[in-house]
Amino acid sequence: MTDTPVIAIEKLTRRFGDTVAVDGLSLQVAQGEILGYLGHNGAGKTTTVRLLNGVLAPNDGHVSVLGLNPLRDGVALRRRTGVLTETPSLDERLTARENLTLYAEMYGVPRAQIQDRIRDLLETFGLAERATERVGGYSRGMRQRLAIARALIHEPELLFLDEPTSGLDPVATRQMHDLIRAFVGQRERTVFLCTHNLTEAQRLCDRVCVLEQGRLVALGSPRELAENLAAPLRLDVEVAQGQLGLARATLEQLPQIETIEPAETEASLTVTVTAREGIPALNAALVQAGVPVYRLLPHEPTLEDVYFRLHQDEAPEGRPQAREVGV
Ligand SMILES: Nc1ncnc2c1ncn2[C@@H]1O[C@H](COP(=O)(O)OP(=O)(O)OP(=O)(O)O)[C@@H](O)[C@H]1O
Ligand SMILES: [Mg+2]
Repeated sequence: MTDTPVIAIEKLTRRFGDTVAVDGLSLQVAQGEILGYLGHNGAGKTTTVRLLNGVLAPNDGHVSVLGLNPLRDGVALRRRTGVLTETPSLDERLTARENLTLYAEMYGVPRAQIQDRIRDLLETFGLAERATERVGGYSRGMRQRLAIARALIHEPELLFLDEPTSGLDPVATRQMHDLIRAFVGQRERTVFLCTHNLTEAQRLCDRVCVLEQGRLVALGSPRELAENLAAPLRLDVEVAQGQLGLARATLEQLPQIETIEPAETEASLTVTVTAREGIPALNAALVQAGVPVYRLLPHEPTLEDVYFRLHQDEAPEGRPQAREVGV
């Protein structure tokens, strides 16, 4: 493990005509990290991946990947990185095995190792039994799995995955998550993961970066983001039977309470408090009013809450505000 970031992005900008796809983005990714890259359709995720792989040139700013300049050192870089693009192109006329062999040769995998590696990957991705069929007859999920196997054929140090579980069934999705973890765990390798799946990001990623209109609007671990940005906090308050009216009247007086609604269960209310710190005051007020409190259950904030929250409060002039946490 080194302290030098595997990916260093500095004030990166890329425009397409009047569209600013990536807008002054700065971000560093450390070795051994799984970085989740989130944002609405058109936020600039794929453009970032293309810039980091030297497929596109920036209009401004600078990127360094594994210490290399992707535009200048593309060949050297591609031998050390694996990329699953958004719409992977496979050779439809060839079999899975032939597709993998072609790539292995192209990426300079030692000849003696090629067939062993292919066998392992086909096995891992559940394609061994269909390995000699033409890819033209594969289902969408099978193609996706083959494309990921292809990205791994030369044992890259850094893997770019642009929506890897799109089109995969729940079982294959879980297998993919296990594979990503195993990939990173073995030798401190690094993953840059574009995803729309917030549960996936929450489960897998060490840090997530939320992009909006090409700008970074939040960066931190899923937990940090959830704790810091998911306010107001929702919680269920269960009180003694017949005390709901008094409980509601008491809570309505508290400045920390934003909303009060009946909860699904009887004798319960679901309230939103401005921050976690409002919970003790809520409890104290109910006790003081003589309302027996049976249960206070906060809804644990998720990355999904954060995501919707972030997209709710855009700056008045329509530009997102950066909300950096834990960096
Ligand atoms: N080659 C291109 N020519 C013109 N505009 C482009 C090009 N590539 C990207 N854009 C524009 O740049 C913006 C960012 O696109 P990008 O594909 O990076 O978004 P994304 O975050 O990957 O979205 P999605 O979640 O839909 O994959 C969009 O407005 C898109 O239309
Ligand atoms: Mg994309």
